[in-house]
Amino acid sequence: MTSPTATTAPRAAADPNEAVALVLRVWRQDGPSAPGDFETYEVAGLSPDMSFLEALDVLNEQLTGTGRMPVAFDHDCREGICGSCGMMINGQAHGPLRGTATCQLHLRHFHDGQTVTVEPWRAAAFPVIKDLVVDRSAFDRIVEAGGFITAPTGSAPDANATRVPKEVAEAAMDAAACIGCGACVAACPNSAAHLFTGAKLTHLNLLPQGQPERWGRAEHMVEAMERYFGSCSNHGECEAVCPKEISIDVIALLNREFRKARFANRRLGGQSG
Ligand code: FES
Repeated sequence: MTSPTATTAPRAAADPNEAVALVLRVWRQDGPSAPGDFETYEVAGLSPDMSFLEALDVLNEQLTGTGRMPVAFDHDCREGICGSCGMMINGQAHGPLRGTATCQLHLRHFHDGQTVTVEPWRAAAFPVIKDLVVDRSAFDRIVEAGGFITAPTGSAPDANATRVPKEVAEAAMDAAACIGCGACVAACPNSAAHLFTGAKLTHLNLLPQGQPERWGRAEHMVEAMERYFGSCSNHGECEAVCPKEISIDVIALLNREFRKARFANRRLGGQSG
């Protein structure tokens, strides 16, 4: 039911065994250049064990059942892997639970009767396509600029053929946990993508397999990042909202690699990569 004057006060804390009702204030926008606004819906009979995306599924059944357009939102794996389910929930990227993607956020973390405001990522580099869906292809441009290795074709090498110190392997794998959801950009007051870019670069630049393109990667990825996103001013909001809890240490490494790359690439006569 659309009701622009819905109540906002929670009625009671959710009983883990009882169904809850939520008042969802959802951003509705027909297309990239259409004006958007919030619409308010009451959704009852929700299990506290449902994920937030399942609450949106119930809302959409409600809407389609009455002949209205369902809310468009991105999702795929629904288990915190693909990074497509990003949205602002009560002003927080992926909602109130730290280290959790929206698809893994359960309704037990909300109060019965609570009003929950749901918006798309707000960043110039992520234009709204429809409702809660944004275009995150600016991230793809950064990865295209250097987020790859030139692996020789042929059969897979022996797993022990290339030795990697344990600390290096762990640091690289921690960075590789980035799912590219865009929460870091959405939470940053400058809409900077340093955490994302730092994670992608750290993953490859630390490992031996990433060394042939190391300096070109650093320079090209940073240049691509700066074309679309703002500057980092060390607020740290990105780390706070990252569903994979990527450390801002990767930003320090990004900055270090970029500075070294400027010298290394100059020595190579501009032939980076
Ligand atoms: Fe894949 Fe949430 S739907 S991370």
